[in-house]
Amino acid sequence: MTREELKQRTVGVLMGGVSAEREISLRTGNAILTALLGAGYKAIGIDAGPDLPQRLQSEGVEVAFIALHGRGGEDGSVQGLLETIGIPYTGSGILASSLALDKVMTKRILLQQGLPTPLFDVYRIGDDLTAVVSRIKTYPVIAKPAREGSTIGVTIAGDAAALRQGLTVAAGYDRQVVIEEFIKGRETTVSVLDGVALPIIEVVPKSGFYDFASKYTAGQTEYLLPAAFDAQVTARMQQIAVDACNAIGCSGAARVDFMVRGDELLCLEVNTIPGMTATSLLPKAAAAAGIDFTELVQRILEGAGLDK
Ligand SMILES: Nc1ncnc2c1ncn2[C@@H]1O[C@H](COP(=O)(O)OP(=O)(O)O)[C@@H](O)[C@H]1O
Ligand SMILES: [Mg+2]
Repeated sequence: MTREELKQRTVGVLMGGVSAEREISLRTGNAILTALLGAGYKAIGIDAGPDLPQRLQSEGVEVAFIALHGRGGEDGSVQGLLETIGIPYTGSGILASSLALDKVMTKRILLQQGLPTPLFDVYRIGDDLTAVVSRIKTYPVIAKPAREGSTIGVTIAGDAAALRQGLTVAAGYDRQVVIEEFIKGRETTVSVLDGVALPIIEVVPKSGFYDFASKYTAGQTEYLLPAAFDAQVTARMQQIAVDACNAIGCSGAARVDFMVRGDELLCLEVNTIPGMTATSLLPKAAAAAGIDFTELVQRILEGAGLDK
């Protein structure tokens, strides 16, 4: 749809929801809503609760801008609802959304495509914890819930006892937990917009760990943009990001997180609804490519559709 056509429709910005990332989603959603209103769209904010189907109807939503993070929004479920009732929506479709939200499935697809990702194992609730921990021979490792975000429920474990504890914490968020080799190195993220990689950002958290506070508290993280990699490494990382998005089947905007260890560019995960808050990475990368926030929001909105 063109921008002029979209300006004739009621755009519902779906935000909030019930995931652990609710507060971040509200910040993302409100930033998008403000930009759309400022650019002359008929936009309304909708807090996506269990009454979402009724709200979409009563508010007369004709196009949905999905600003939900985590489960129940970024995972294909809301995309499925919108497909069912025929409301075009932004971003990735059902399958890509569910695959990307699940770090285990994402890593299997990356490996199948020959794309680099840290070595890993999986713990499922009900597995013998001692048996799983005894399979891990090298520390430190990272334990993280398969379907969570914002570094919620993530532990760096230096030994078996810490891993047991970390698995128990992560299992409080999801029934599957990824146990990944801890990569000591630089951390980067590559945003991809409509199949094109934006400039790479290196994140340098002051605490040394890019956790929830480092992600969302102003001044807690240094962002190096463009990141200082030579032209060849830059191109390779951007290509891996685009390939990862294509392998998962993403549409619109996405963001691929990496750890860099020497020559290795190891892909951690693919985010299909990147944050759009004041400290978020996608808007920074877009700005570096000459795309301001309002333009970015409109580019994402233009990609709204069904059956992706
Ligand atoms: N294998 C790893 N080695 C080192 N650090 C990691 C590893 N996996 C995750 N991290 C750290 O934890 C953060 C969150 O992990 P990530 O896989 O991106 O999940 P999410 O952002 O969905 O919480 C990363 O930004 C990184 O700082
Ligand atoms: Mg991440």
